[in-house]
Amino acid sequence: MLLRAFLNQSVSYTLAGLYTLLWILPCVRSKTPDVDVMCIYSEDCILPCSFTPTDDAVVIQWYQQEKLIYSFRQDEEEPDDSSMSLFTDEVSKGNASLLLKDSSVQSRGRYKCVINATNAVKESFVILKVEAPISRISIEASATGQLQCSSHGLYPSPLLTWSTDPSTGNLQSRTRMSADSNGLYSVESTLQKVNKSSPITYICTVTSKYSSQSWKASLLQTEMVGKNGQELVIPCMAPKNLKNFTLTWTFTKKNKNKDILTYHSQTHKVMNQWEEEAELDLDKAQSGDGSLYLDDNEVSRHAGKYTCTFSGPRVTYIVQTSVTVSASSAAAQKEQSNSKLWVLAVVVAALAVLGVLYYLYRKYGGNPKASEEDTEMQAVKGKTEELPAEIRPLNGKGDS
Ligand SMILES: *[C@@H]1O[C@H](CO)[C@@H](O)[C@H](O)[C@H]1NC(C)=O
Ligand SMILES: *[C@@H]1O[C@H](CO)[C@@H](O)[C@H](O)[C@H]1NC(C)=O
Ligand SMILES: *[C@@H]1O[C@H](CO)[C@@H](O)[C@H](O)[C@H]1NC(C)=O
Ligand SMILES: *[C@@H]1O[C@H](CO)[C@@H](O)[C@H](O)[C@H]1NC(C)=O
Repeated sequence: MLLRAFLNQSVSYTLAGLYTLLWILPCVRSKTPDVDVMCIYSEDCILPCSFTPTDDAVVIQWYQQEKLIYSFRQDEEEPDDSSMSLFTDEVSKGNASLLLKDSSVQSRGRYKCVINATNAVKESFVILKVEAPISRISIEASATGQLQCSSHGLYPSPLLTWSTDPSTGNLQSRTRMSADSNGLYSVESTLQKVNKSSPITYICTVTSKYSSQSWKASLLQTEMVGKNGQELVIPCMAPKNLKNFTLTWTFTKKNKNKDILTYHSQTHKVMNQWEEEAELDLDKAQSGDGSLYLDDNEVSRHAGKYTCTFSGPRVTYIVQTSVTVSASSAAAQKEQSNSKLWVLAVVVAALAVLGVLYYLYRKYGGNPKASEEDTEMQAVKGKTEELPAEIRPLNGKGDS
């Protein structure tokens, strides 16, 4: 008996519970939370909206910030609008999602979807955000000893920061943000270089506010001295863990840029414009050592600025190396050859004098006519003095 009463009671409690739940549920359901949708600038995006399909025709209305932008009656033709449409085949299944084409900065905002059926009206909201993500970032050194970092066509306005490796305090930079007619931002920043004797890598980081995605561009400027007759190896190492990258080498002399070569890690292929003079070690390149090997002939012709660029996913890493050809070793070589010529000249002159003396001795047998000997000697002397004079112009050419 007791058990039965207890069961009866619990059943009625459960029923009461279910009953209240059924009352509460519709209230909860009608308060659907706003849906957040992120859309990529200039791409199509879908604003979701669904309803319980009924036999009666429904009216679907879409509002952007309380302004009616789209209205569709199920049994009528879809309005002709090139910028947005419904998925008409899906409407009968309760899908009233709006397809927004070619999104822009103006597409942002709060959208309201209203489903007007005969016995009920249902509203739901979508918050649309538009992002023009970072697609490129560039860094370069200006002639005035400053560095410039920039990125264009962004929405919303990004964050730009500078850092160095090794790190230094107190970086002085000026950052400007501007928007174009489409509302897309450009960020440009100028950094004052730090006074440091050792090479320093400058890193510019641009971060997107929505996706917190960071792009990095870094620049290292160094110098090196080449020697004639020696193979020149210009070092360039990829940042750590850079897997999928393109490596390019360019040469700048007198403000003219020339492509040297391009290497793709993905295909392991190299396109070399300087076939005869420059090459990579392909095995090393694969593991991120992009050092350039320059032929040992005519190193002096190779003096100039070499730029090595690693471009990977969201990373640009640049090393600029100014190559000069060792003045001391070049001059030493020239001096050496000059002194060799000197020795040769003196030996030739001495031999000539000896020859003449011997000839005179044989001819006049120790009974010389002083005047004739004098003139002959003068001619010889003149010759010996001319020799260094002939070398001098060579000297002059070499110095210039
Ligand atoms: C509505 O249909 C579109 C197009 O087929 C689909 O991408 C979307 O996920 C559907 N939405 C809902 C809420 O079913
Ligand atoms: C729903 O449609 C009916 C008839 O078409 C109209 O009178 C009513 O105002 C509509 N309700 C809303 C909220 O749009
Ligand atoms: C850096 O060096 C330059 C010249 O070498 C000097 O004019 C400048 O004041 C220095 N800057 C700082 C911050 O020390
Ligand atoms: C490597 O990069 C290229 C070009 O940036 C891209 O097309 C390719 O899908 C990438 N591969 C991998 C494995 O990430």
